[in-house]
Amino acid sequence: MERRKVTVPRIIRMKHKAQKIVMLSTYDFPLARLADEAGVDIILVGDTLGMVVLGYETTLPVTMDEMLIHLKAVTRAKPKALVVGDMPFMSFQASHSQAVVNAGRMVKEGGADAVKIEGGRCMAATARAIVEAKIPVMGHIGLTPQAVRVFGGYRVQGKNETAKNALIEDALTLEDAGCFAIVLEAIPWKLAKEITEKVKIPTIGIGAGPYCDGQVLVSHDLLGLFEHVPRYVRRYANLAETIRDAFSAYARDVRSGEFPKLEESYEDPDNSKDNQRSS
Ligand code: KIV
Repeated sequence: MERRKVTVPRIIRMKHKAQKIVMLSTYDFPLARLADEAGVDIILVGDTLGMVVLGYETTLPVTMDEMLIHLKAVTRAKPKALVVGDMPFMSFQASHSQAVVNAGRMVKEGGADAVKIEGGRCMAATARAIVEAKIPVMGHIGLTPQAVRVFGGYRVQGKNETAKNALIEDALTLEDAGCFAIVLEAIPWKLAKEITEKVKIPTIGIGAGPYCDGQVLVSHDLLGLFEHVPRYVRRYANLAETIRDAFSAYARDVRSGEFPKLEESYEDPDNSKDNQRSS
């Protein structure tokens, strides 16, 4: 049976049916297609693309234009998964109208089904403004990487009583503002469990333990494209090794003259069948 498009109401229902939500941060056409074939529920085109694809040191330099290029590549794969476009730093903080206009670009130009914004209570009114423009919003609290300069590094959040209460308040306020789900990043698992029990919308954890309603990982981390990954990442492949081996084998074969062979070459330039890429 053909898989039906995942919708925002379906993601909310999954919490109430105790079905775990699978979300993956993915940034291009081939990986989006593979993620969708694997049946993930939500593809997040995350601003982590700045670090894992574009090589920036943080997510701060990522622009709307860069996000849109990757979002369009993902939505060209026509995923059945819900596609969430991540709002990059300074695309929503300056004013509600800036936030609504840029969220609108994610939907109209990028083809996103929803957007994600980082921040708790301080961003609740912004979330509400976007929701009122009929664009579904996913919240994101805890270690919000766009606030790395404020945190002074990528540190676990919510470790003392005041910080815990603030995060609980953040989650409840975002729910009240109309967010359909909230990412909980790098917070102690007991706090993530408490938030998950307190809100009616799904929580999606990353480094937030097993009791969230769903989980998200960065595809490049779980595929093992980097040597150093945070403690919360489980690696399901070691593609760095596989890719390095393949590139080395290719270089070796070119240098030795072993590649290409005649059967990998075209014989007759006038033969149109031979000139097709797939032949
Ligand atoms: O940008 C991203 O990929 C994210 C996830 C890690 C939640 O925000």
